[in-house]
Amino acid sequence: MTTAFAPTAAGHDGHAIEAQPFEIRAFDGPVGAEVVGLDLGKPLSQDDFARIHRAHLDHHVLVFRDQRITPDQQIAFSRRFGPLQIHVLHQFQLTGYPEVLVVSNIVENGKPIGLGDAGHYWHSDLSYKEKPSLGSLLHAQELPAEGGDTLFANMHLAWDTLPAHLRTAVQGRRAEHTYLAKYAELQKRSPWRPNLSAEQIASVTPVVQPIVRTHPETGRKALFVSEHFTTRVIGLPEDESKALLDEIFAHSVRPEHLYRHQWAEHDMVFWDNRSLMHLAAGTPDHLRRKLYRTTIEGDAPF
Ligand code: SIN
Repeated sequence: MTTAFAPTAAGHDGHAIEAQPFEIRAFDGPVGAEVVGLDLGKPLSQDDFARIHRAHLDHHVLVFRDQRITPDQQIAFSRRFGPLQIHVLHQFQLTGYPEVLVVSNIVENGKPIGLGDAGHYWHSDLSYKEKPSLGSLLHAQELPAEGGDTLFANMHLAWDTLPAHLRTAVQGRRAEHTYLAKYAELQKRSPWRPNLSAEQIASVTPVVQPIVRTHPETGRKALFVSEHFTTRVIGLPEDESKALLDEIFAHSVRPEHLYRHQWAEHDMVFWDNRSLMHLAAGTPDHLRRKLYRTTIEGDAPF
């Protein structure tokens, strides 16, 4: 089993870091907990970091309430778990912060300031890379008065409850994941998908991943295919591959596997891409939504 990066034991001035009083409250559902009373803008003590790390593994998505933190502080906290990944759509980096992807439907002077259709299809972040994301952090900057929810599907539960005939069909099999799978389709319907340079396309060549992966820290099994990025099951004829993937997708997002996050001001949501898929439910066109995302690199799935 691998573990997250070791936390620092002392602040910049060399003094021991004080523990913060905070609570972790599990949601009444298949996934998720909220963290109340912790300030992610401050350095975390080893014990506090260990509690958060454990809660992240247990609940898969943590909602840190009331985080009035800067992009630098978001990056610093994210880096405690591993190196950060830079999104291929560098057009939507926060100015001065290549590690921060702006997720937003806002258009200023005729130009989108962020990726407005991020999460339009169910996916696990960067599953199209050899080393997909361990987890992602999304920090609310500006929220719409209605809509804009994010849904999470528990892929451990999806595996645990997968009908026997589907378990047999996917056992030991691998599937292809491609960043470009739905790009042209998204490009037709939104202003947020620029033409990609040859360099961008070369950085997202298709990869092959196991359909059932083992969480590297907990040892739990999870389904690891998504409607956004998974294109085919290796070794199956196209029609059989499509039928199998359609059945798995439908099963994965059954209502009993889901948590729906309704954003509150200053929420920071941190999810485990090795355990979950997520989906942006959508924001009415006339309302503004802006969030900052950091993405932590994980291990090659096995
Ligand atoms: C994402 O897929 O990272 C964005 C999710 C959201 O905007 O709710």
